[in-house]
Amino acid sequence: MKYERSSQLFDEAQKFIPGGVNSPVRAFKSVGGHPIYLKSASGSYLYDEDGNNYIDFINSWGPQILGHAFPAVIDSIKAAADRGTSFGAPTELETSIAELITKMVPEIDQIRMVNSGTEACMSAIRLARGYTGADKIIKFTGCYHGHSDAFLIAAGSGAITFGSPDSLGVTKNTAKDTLIATFNDLASVKTLFERFTGQIASVIIEPVAGNMGCIPPEKGFLEGLRKLCSEQNALLIFDEVMTGFRLSKGGAAELYNVTPDITCFGKIIGGGLPVGAFAAKKEIMQHLAPTGAVYQAGTLSGNPLAMSAGYAILNALDKNPQVYGKLQERGSSLASELSEVFKRKSIGHQINQVGSMLSVHFCENPVRDFESAKKGDNEVFKQFFHHMLHSGIYLPPSAYESWFLCTTLTDEDQAKTVEAAKAFQPVNL
Ligand SMILES: Cc1ncc(COP(=O)(O)O)c(C=O)c1O
Repeated sequence: MKYERSSQLFDEAQKFIPGGVNSPVRAFKSVGGHPIYLKSASGSYLYDEDGNNYIDFINSWGPQILGHAFPAVIDSIKAAADRGTSFGAPTELETSIAELITKMVPEIDQIRMVNSGTEACMSAIRLARGYTGADKIIKFTGCYHGHSDAFLIAAGSGAITFGSPDSLGVTKNTAKDTLIATFNDLASVKTLFERFTGQIASVIIEPVAGNMGCIPPEKGFLEGLRKLCSEQNALLIFDEVMTGFRLSKGGAAELYNVTPDITCFGKIIGGGLPVGAFAAKKEIMQHLAPTGAVYQAGTLSGNPLAMSAGYAILNALDKNPQVYGKLQERGSSLASELSEVFKRKSIGHQINQVGSMLSVHFCENPVRDFESAKKGDNEVFKQFFHHMLHSGIYLPPSAYESWFLCTTLTDEDQAKTVEAAKAFQPVNL
């Protein structure tokens, strides 16, 4: 495969865009090389500027669950564009999509649309603070909730500490209100509640983590969080930006039968256009402006193009719930075939998979939190990534990112992917 045009375009982009990209992971920093410049996509395939094509396992980091250029989405965006791109005033479509979502996710009564997952999570913790009157939040190492200041916090040193800024520009005072716990470790959360009793507004979690590879919650973990939050009058926030409408109609909350107080959405909810949302029971949502005193707003929130795309994809999922069973079958058979390939080659690996999310870590021990995810051999991952890319398989360019499968992935696509993996042989180990 040749990548000359992509290489040139990346050089050009770096003159005008910091690092050449509008979101860091696209720069291929953790695997090396340069990004592939895409021209178009259809179904499970991507087409690049050099004339190469790839089977896509990123699917725009989640939104394209029904494949790229899903006809109902494209048609509804075109029709909406003909009526005008933005009014800054309410439309009937906003109520229709809100109603559809409250039907698909029964634990929510009301939903507020925003423009990204970052905004959704940022607003959700403000709402939780406004509702409870407490300031602190608990998040988990390795979970990502967008790039707002409160979440760019790493664990501090020592067993019970405040977090510390994980990016220049985040203040130490902001970090003081974010407490850090360990995924799949209920005791770490209990300790924080004991230390900061009455000061914790919410616990926010990706119920299936997707930002340290895919890591499922162990039995009893989400249930334990639910119980602790209820006992301590803190709100449980599920960040379902990745898992919402992907693992089931009702997301991870439905799959694991644990009900959060607030749910954050993104990705699929916009059908590939920039949308996020946060939602809860009416009693909580009424605290938002204009009915309540928690301020939150957005000029383009509920944008008609974005709502049209979102409605089209959610409606398709609502009418075809069988897609979730099929995606689970696809995910599980791909995971077991890949695992078989690595076993035959004696390549140490762990594949975590939940429905249409999966990831490969090149390590021997189970990956159940950020510490164990870090044990993965990044050198092997890099080689695997580039080997697959050259074989026409487009994987996330980092071992810490989940793969996202879509419904248009065929048996032939899967066979081609597994064949490519069979030809992989790590060197210089
Ligand atoms: C779980 C989770 N929450 C929040 C976000 C932030 O969403 P966005 O990139 O739309 O701001 C992401 C992004 O990948 C995510 O994976």
